[in-house]
Amino acid sequence: MPYLPKWLIKPFAKPYVAGETLDSVLDQVGKINKQGFKTTIDILGEHVINVNEALEVKKAYCNLYDRLDLIGEDNTVSLKLSHLGLELDPLLAEKNLNSIIEKSKSTGLGLTIDMEKSDFTDITLKIYFKAQKQHSGVGTVLQSYLHRSLDDLKALDSENLHLRICKGIYRESPLIAFQGAAEIRQNFFDMAKTLMTGRGYACLATHDITLIDRLEAFIENNNIPSNKFEFQTLLGVPMGNRLHELKEKGYAVRIYIPYGQSWFEYSLRRLEENPAIISYVLGNLFRR
Ligand code: FDA
Repeated sequence: MPYLPKWLIKPFAKPYVAGETLDSVLDQVGKINKQGFKTTIDILGEHVINVNEALEVKKAYCNLYDRLDLIGEDNTVSLKLSHLGLELDPLLAEKNLNSIIEKSKSTGLGLTIDMEKSDFTDITLKIYFKAQKQHSGVGTVLQSYLHRSLDDLKALDSENLHLRICKGIYRESPLIAFQGAAEIRQNFFDMAKTLMTGRGYACLATHDITLIDRLEAFIENNNIPSNKFEFQTLLGVPMGNRLHELKEKGYAVRIYIPYGQSWFEYSLRRLEENPAIISYVLGNLFRR
């Protein structure tokens, strides 16, 4: 793929990315809100290589908040700390994050710190912990493929916990991560149960229909109130009528929408990290 021209790859990436500009993503947000779904917006990019780049990313996120505020719906923001300069200097990333948190506070629109590869788990949780004390609208993510995640979740439990659970997208060693689909799914389910019966708010981020069936059964059998959780999916992943059905039941559904100029690099990195994605993408294209 790196050797193929962008114009050839673009149609494959198109369903999963909302375009390159802020206007294009806001257009998508409007359409998705009209269907009764919430969104969370991610500016594509990660691993910035200089301070100025990280500052530009911070500005772009602040600008995104201003524009989302004008829409007046529950649309939140998702970001990666490596995009704010984490690898250059954790203090730089934290400073940039603090400016974005101020925007989250003033607009009342939430913020989720995405979880990256396991080298960053400790530092991300450390920064999240401080950020959450500053503003309860800040959430983060735990990945069910990591052995440690259920313990992390239990340690984070609080009234202010706003946590996305996902399976995890990076390639991780068997020493620290489950490798089998069944174990990863089971750990997701156990984490979701712990979160929904604990004090926090659960964002259930998955397209796995078997898992969604189990989560729904748990929610119904245990009378989990609908203000304790929401379902989340990635833009473009086909879900048939399932998202509408969840919405009809009164459950909140949020679509994660990435946008930006780095779509090509982003797609390549995701493929490098998890070659299984190519089979999803091709499968989805053919089903479409
Ligand atoms: P599974 O991998 O079993 O996929 C189920 C089905 O969904 C597949 O058969 C396929 O049809 C479809 N599908 C899944 N992913 C697809 C894709 N990318 N393209 C096309 N089709 C796909 N990860 C992480 O490490 N850190 C993070 O912060 C986040 N954040 C995040 C937010 C949200 C809202 C979602 C939905 C996901 C993430 N992820 C993530 C990604 C997550 O960890 C995981 O890699 C994917 O969601 C795929 O896992 P599923 O649970 O969907 O199951």
